[in-house]
Amino acid sequence: MSIPLTANARPTDAELLEEINRLRVEKNAVILAHYYQDGRIQDLADFVGDSLDLSRKAASTDADVIVFCGVRFMAEVAKILSPDKTVVLPDMNAGCSLEDGCPPDEFAAFRAKYPDHISLTYINCSAAVKTHSDIIITSSNARHIIDQIPRDQPILLAPDQHLGGYLARETGREMVLWPGSCIVHEQFSEKELIKLKAEYPNAPVAAHPECPVHILNHADHVGSTSSILKFVLEDEADTFIIATEPGIIHQMQKSSPEKTFIGAPGMDGECNCNQCPFMALNTLEKLRDCLRDLTPTIEISEEERLAAKAPLDRMLEMSPPIAQNRPPTSGRAY
Ligand code: 13P
Ligand code: SF4
Repeated sequence: MSIPLTANARPTDAELLEEINRLRVEKNAVILAHYYQDGRIQDLADFVGDSLDLSRKAASTDADVIVFCGVRFMAEVAKILSPDKTVVLPDMNAGCSLEDGCPPDEFAAFRAKYPDHISLTYINCSAAVKTHSDIIITSSNARHIIDQIPRDQPILLAPDQHLGGYLARETGREMVLWPGSCIVHEQFSEKELIKLKAEYPNAPVAAHPECPVHILNHADHVGSTSSILKFVLEDEADTFIIATEPGIIHQMQKSSPEKTFIGAPGMDGECNCNQCPFMALNTLEKLRDCLRDLTPTIEISEEERLAAKAPLDRMLEMSPPIAQNRPPTSGRAY
């Protein structure tokens, strides 16, 4: 016997997709998604990428509405770079532990202690923290940007101590680091990773630089989400261990279905604790709602926007050119 649908029945994914497709045209909207989003959101996005890719896309789109399927600091960057667009985020509570761990007033006081230091700030921070920064960096352009800074110029890097530590080791530069971290990348267990490597001795480990050094020490490749994706698609191995948020495995499986991707284990060996709880707040239903109602929107005062834009502009000027062979950027194209 079939169950009659009530007025409160939840829409199916197919119904939501149909509505989203109708609304995106009606509103002249572009849907941008980060690699950590639910696979269904990545598949319907116009563009999927890492933080740098998404900033560039937000700066250059001619859509009227940017639906940002990522976390709040990413949507803020879109608004800072494209102030005339309506920027909506499916869930305004989609924050980031790095942002939460770096309050603007405390950061301003920290900076003031190092007046001779140039402040390189990871894009994972609030617009207010950006206003106190010299150059914004992401994990895809940090190395390239640091190499353009004279060697005798001291550096202050915030708010991710693990990314900062990694960059300090890679570049041989001394850096003053803000003691922040990502709650997701801190969950990987070295003990469990060693056990997994013993089980799959030929599987390269690819890790995000937000991981602590004891995890990065086991990595064959360290890089941003798009760089990890490129590495696993190009490397000849058939099995990989992935030490970053598991949402990215969706793109890996789509692009290389013949390969096997194993998420690096958390503390108890198999917990689901490496899923970013902030990214997971965005759902298909909330995406439909924000596109339909054009709310919640990102709003930033013009004074703060201009102050936060200056270090973002410097980042864009100092970033490497867009790679010709960059990994998949569109969920809909394939
Ligand atoms: P990427 O710039 O590498 O995509 O990183 C964003 C992020 O939040 C990682 O946790
Ligand atoms: Fe922030 Fe970590 Fe989530 Fe990235 S994975 S958005 S750094 S909490």
